[in-house]
Amino acid sequence: MKNSVYTIEQADKRYIWHPFTQQQSWEADPQIVIERAEGSYLIDVQGKRYLDGVSSLWVNVHGHRRPEINRAIQDQLERVAHTTFLGLTHPSAVELAERLIQIAPGQLSRVFYSDTGAAAMEIALKMAFQYWQQCASPQPGKTKFFVLNSGYHGDTVGAMSLGGIEIYQQVYHPLLFPTLRASSACCYHCPLHTSYPDCQFACLEEVERIIARHAHELAAVVMEPLVQGAAGIFVYPAGYTRKVREIARRHNVLFIVDEVATGFGKTGKMFACEHEDIDPDLMALGKGITGGYLPLAATLATEEIYRAFLGTPEEGRTFYHGHTYTGNPVCCAAALASLDLFEQDRTLALLQVKIALLQQQLEHFKYLPLVGDIRQCGFMVGIELVQDRHTRTPFPAHEQVAVRVVKEARRRGVIIRPLSDVLVIMPPLAITPEELLTLLQVTYDAICAVTEELL
Ligand SMILES: Cc1ncc(COP(=O)(O)O)c(C=O)c1O
Repeated sequence: MKNSVYTIEQADKRYIWHPFTQQQSWEADPQIVIERAEGSYLIDVQGKRYLDGVSSLWVNVHGHRRPEINRAIQDQLERVAHTTFLGLTHPSAVELAERLIQIAPGQLSRVFYSDTGAAAMEIALKMAFQYWQQCASPQPGKTKFFVLNSGYHGDTVGAMSLGGIEIYQQVYHPLLFPTLRASSACCYHCPLHTSYPDCQFACLEEVERIIARHAHELAAVVMEPLVQGAAGIFVYPAGYTRKVREIARRHNVLFIVDEVATGFGKTGKMFACEHEDIDPDLMALGKGITGGYLPLAATLATEEIYRAFLGTPEEGRTFYHGHTYTGNPVCCAAALASLDLFEQDRTLALLQVKIALLQQQLEHFKYLPLVGDIRQCGFMVGIELVQDRHTRTPFPAHEQVAVRVVKEARRRGVIIRPLSDVLVIMPPLAITPEELLTLLQVTYDAICAVTEELL
C-alpha cells in the first residue's frame, strides 16, 4: 500500500468495520487477504489458493475473472460508466430488462432496478403497499405483510421487518414495523413434531388460518421460494411454496418471492419458482444477476401492478423510489454477459450432473457423529451440526463448532461459511466435478478434525 506503515491486514484492522462481524474477534484473529481470483479459486497475497465454496457469498456463477464478463465491463466503460436513470435511459439496461422478462416466471413484465437484494425487497414491499391504494378497486386497508419465521430479506429497516432471524433483528425491534407470521417449514425443525409426508402439510393450516383471518388487511405474502437461505438452508417440503402461493391467491393477497439467493441457477433451474410453476406478483433479484461481479438488483412486477401506478403527475400515483446508481450501465453490461454465458456454457444443463454428484457425496456426511441434518436444494447445501443427533440437541453457542470447522477448512484451502451451527456450501455453478469433490472432501475432513477435538 502506498505510503502506509501497515501491512494490508494491519491497516484493515485499523480502519475497517466488516459486515456481520464481531470486530473484537476479527482484530484478534489472523485474516486472509485476497488479492486475486481464478475460476473457482480465490488467491491470497501470499499466493495460497482457496476454493470459493460459498461463491463469494452466493453470487459467483461462471467462475472468477471470466474474460467474457471482463470484456463486457471494459466495453461498457469505453462508452459510459454511469448515467442517471432519472429522466434518461441507456441500451444496456433496456436490453437486460427485456431479457430478464423473457426468462422470468409467470406474468412478470416490468423491471425496476436497484443495487442490493435488500433494496429490491424494499421496493417490492412499497410497490405492494401502494398498489392497494391505487388499483382498480382500491383497498387502502391492505397495508400489512405476512411472512414466515426464519426468513431473511436483507438489512434495511423494511427488509428487516419482513425478516425472521431473531439474532439479526432483536436489537432493532423498536425500529421495525409489525408483520403477521407463521412457523417456518423446515422439516428438521418442525414445531409440530410431525414428519413429512405423513404430516400432509399440517404446517399450512396455520398459514391459511392467519392469511384468511387477515386477508382484508394484508397487502402481500412474502417468502423465499423453496428454501430459506440465511436461516441455515431451510428447505421446505416439495410443493410447499406453491401451496402458499395458492392460499395467497385464494384470499386476494399479493405474492412476493424473494429470489435474491435462489435466482440465477442456485436451485438447479434459473429461478426457484420454475420448480413448482409459481407465478409471483412481484419478484426480487440480486446476488447472481451479474454473475457475481457487480452490485445490481431488480424488482420485477406484473403489468397489473405496473398499471396501478399510471396517471398524470399531479395524481400522485408515481412510484416514489429510486437510488443514485439505479440501472448502472456497467452492472447491466456484466449481467448481460452473464446471461450470454448461461447459454454459451450450457450452465444449467451441466449443473444437473454436479447436483447429483453433490447429493451422492453428501450421503457420506450422514454418518458423521456431529451431523444432525443435511439439506440440499440444487447447489445450495446446509450441514447442521448438533451435539446429540438423536435428541437434536444443539451445541452451546460459545462452542462455536461451525466456526471451528470453517477455520479448519481454511487451513486446508477451502472457504466455507457458518450460519449458526450450519455449514453452508454453495459453490460457483461453473465449479468442475473435481473441484467439487475437493470441496466436499476438505469439508468432511475438517468436520472430522473438529470432532476429534471435541470427543
Ligand atoms: C433471500 C435474500 N434476500 C435478500 C438478501 C439481501 O441481499 P443484499 O445482501 O444484497 O442486500 C439476501 C442476502 O443474503 C438473501 O439471501
